[in-house]
Amino acid sequence: MIRKCLFPVAGYGTRFLPATKAMPKEMLPVVNKPLVQYGVEEAISAGLNQIGFVTGRGKRAINDHFDVSYELEHQIAGSEKEKYLSCVREVIQNATFSSTRQPEMKGLGHAILVGELLIGYEPFGVILADDLCLVEEGEDSVMTQLVKIYRRFGKSVVAITEVPREDVSKFGVIAAEEIEPGIYTVSDMVEKPSPEDAPSNLAIIGRYVLTPDIFEALRHTEPGKNGEIQITDALLKLARKGRVLAYKFRGLRFDCGSIEGYVAATNYVYQNIYSKNPK
Ligand code: G1P
Repeated sequence: MIRKCLFPVAGYGTRFLPATKAMPKEMLPVVNKPLVQYGVEEAISAGLNQIGFVTGRGKRAINDHFDVSYELEHQIAGSEKEKYLSCVREVIQNATFSSTRQPEMKGLGHAILVGELLIGYEPFGVILADDLCLVEEGEDSVMTQLVKIYRRFGKSVVAITEVPREDVSKFGVIAAEEIEPGIYTVSDMVEKPSPEDAPSNLAIIGRYVLTPDIFEALRHTEPGKNGEIQITDALLKLARKGRVLAYKFRGLRFDCGSIEGYVAATNYVYQNIYSKNPK
């Protein structure tokens, strides 16, 4: 059973300054919903309704967003405007939220290790809210797709996509053998390699299902790329034991950590989702 999903949300969002000076980047709206809410809705759709945030300074708005706002609720109760809150109310009713702080920015791997407190010894999902993943209406969300693979194999699973060679240095990149269409056993993984050193053009995107042995691996992972503790390096230790799968997900992914990706996501959501069914 996987019930928990971790959201590392401590990053600064420097690429969006000044918008992110006093506001978490995860609260940037794509049309009318903050990025992090898309991620939480995806987790819930996969049955992961115990949500854990690894936050940092200046991230209070995320916790507040998933809490009841009494003044606001009271003010608009019974009015036309109440409908605008319904989609976040639904999220709040269908999940529990807890959070802990990452006191220092020492990388994604470190953030996940800090989250051990919220997870305990069980498998869990990880969603990087910057990566907005969308699927067609009625299709499995990307996290649901990963959970299904986990249920079959009982191993950690990373979501991957093919990227142009010149872009590999933005991602964790894998070497892998395809065992079924779209499902791979990972033999090597490198965090943000140069195009010449990349083992392939299969890039990891911000969706993972991790088995709890990742925490022990993280405890023994030295700082890697950019002096940070990398989840990719910790996963490599499990991959060497044949314990990591990669899955070429079905759906669209927008890099909302970049201005271009964020604008593309906004246009897409407006045209294909919001304008058809505003909620
Ligand atoms: C992180 C991971 C990287 C992964 C990427 C997906 O990097 O370290 O392996 O490919 O997320 O978005 P970041 O984008 O946080 O630098």
